[in-house]
Amino acid sequence: MFTVEKVSALEILDSRGRPTVKATCILRDGTVASASVPSGASTGTAEAIELRDGDPKRYQGLGCRKAVANINGEIDQALRGRTFRSQEELDLIIRDLDGTENKSRLGANAQLAVSLAFARACAHARQVPLYRHFADIMEQPLRTLPRPTINLFSGGKHAGELCPLQDLLIVPASATTMDQALADTFAVYQSAAKLIAKKYGMRALSADEGGLAPVFPNPEAMFADAVEAIQQAGLRPGEDVALAVDVASSHFHTKAGYQLGERLLDGPAMIGQLAQWAKRYPLVSLEDGLSEDDWDHWPKLRETLSGKVRVVGDDLLCTNPKRIRKAVELGAVDTLLLKVNQIGSLSEAKQACLLARSAGWQVTISARSGETEDNWLADLAVGWAGDQIKVGSITQSERLSKYNRLLEIEAETRLPMVAWPLSAGVPK
Ligand code: PGA
Ligand code: ZN
Repeated sequence: MFTVEKVSALEILDSRGRPTVKATCILRDGTVASASVPSGASTGTAEAIELRDGDPKRYQGLGCRKAVANINGEIDQALRGRTFRSQEELDLIIRDLDGTENKSRLGANAQLAVSLAFARACAHARQVPLYRHFADIMEQPLRTLPRPTINLFSGGKHAGELCPLQDLLIVPASATTMDQALADTFAVYQSAAKLIAKKYGMRALSADEGGLAPVFPNPEAMFADAVEAIQQAGLRPGEDVALAVDVASSHFHTKAGYQLGERLLDGPAMIGQLAQWAKRYPLVSLEDGLSEDDWDHWPKLRETLSGKVRVVGDDLLCTNPKRIRKAVELGAVDTLLLKVNQIGSLSEAKQACLLARSAGWQVTISARSGETEDNWLADLAVGWAGDQIKVGSITQSERLSKYNRLLEIEAETRLPMVAWPLSAGVPK
C-alpha cells in the first residue's frame, strides 16, 4: 500500500533537444522518485497522444508546459493523499481522469511520466531494485537478461530519409553475456565506421539513435556493408553476429503502394522483396516490413518468414491491446515491439505484454528515437523478461545509460542472457 503525498513535473529536453516531461512522485513515507518519458519520430498513427503546447514561437510548438501543468494541477489533485494497492489502481484513476480513448486530454506524456515515477517510488519504498519491482508488477520471477539488438546504420525518418530502411541493427548471437554482447558490438561498430569512411569518403553523420548514416545508394548496400563490417571485426555473420531490420514501411507507404527508392511495390511484391533480403543476408528479425494499415498482407508475410525470421510489429500494434488482439486473430506477427509511451501507462503496457505472451509471441522492449538519460527501460526489459531490447546504437549517453544499467543488473543478478536463436519456438 502506497500513499501519494504529491506529484509534480518539469519540462526537460530529450536527446534531440526537444521538450519532454519529467515527473516526481513523493510518497507519504517521504520516498521521492522521478522518471522521464521518451518520444518517437516515426510514430504510429494509433499511438496515444503526446500533449504538445502548439505555440509556434516556443520550440516550434513542441513545448510540454501544458502536460507539466496537468501533472502539477489535475493529476496531483486526483492522487494526493490517496492510497494505492497496485500500479493498476493508480493508472486507472489517471486514465479515468483523462477520459479519452487516446489520452489526448491530459497527454500520454503527462500520464506515463506519473505512472513511471510512482513505480520507481514504490520500488524505493520497498527497498528493492526497479527491475524486481517491475517483475513483481508482472507477477513473475526474474528469468533472463534480454538480448540487445543494436542500431548500426540508420535511414528513414531518423536520418534525413537518405535510405528508405529506418534501422539496420546487429544482434550479437554467440554472446552469452551482456558484457560480451557489447564488446562484439563495439568491434562491429568500429569496423563499420572505418568501412564507410573509406567507401563514402567521410566519417558519416550519426543519426537520432546514434547509428551511422552514410548515403547508401540502396538498401542492399546497407545490408552488404553491415555484413562486411561484421567480417572485418573478425566475427562470423549469422553465427556470431546476425542482422535485424526496422523497415518502418508505414513511412513510405501510400495508397499507390510501397515507394522503395525508385521502385513502387504492391503488398505481394513488397513481401517478395523482404523474403529475398531474408534469404540473402543473415537476417533474424524484421520489424514493420509492411505498413500499419496493410492488415491484409501481414499474415502472408508472417507465413512466408515463419521459422526463419521474427516478424515484429511496431507501428502496426502501437503496444495497443486492441490492435494486438486483432493481430493475434489474423496471425499477423510473432513478436511485439513494446514501447510503453505508445500506450501511455505501465498497466496497459503490461496487458499488451501478457496478450503477446499468451499468443506465444516474443517481446522486444524498445526505446524511442527521442530518449533521456533515464534508464528505467533497462529495468523494465529485465523485469518483464523481454526477449530482446532495442535501445539504439552504442553511442550517446541517452542510449548508454540503458546499456550501462544492463551491465549493472548483469553484475548484480548474474542472470543468464536469453537463449539463442531468436527464432526458437516461432509458432508456424
Ligand atoms: P521512433 O522509432 O522512436 O522514432 O518512433 C523507433 C522505432 O521505430 O523502432
Ligand atoms: Zn519501429
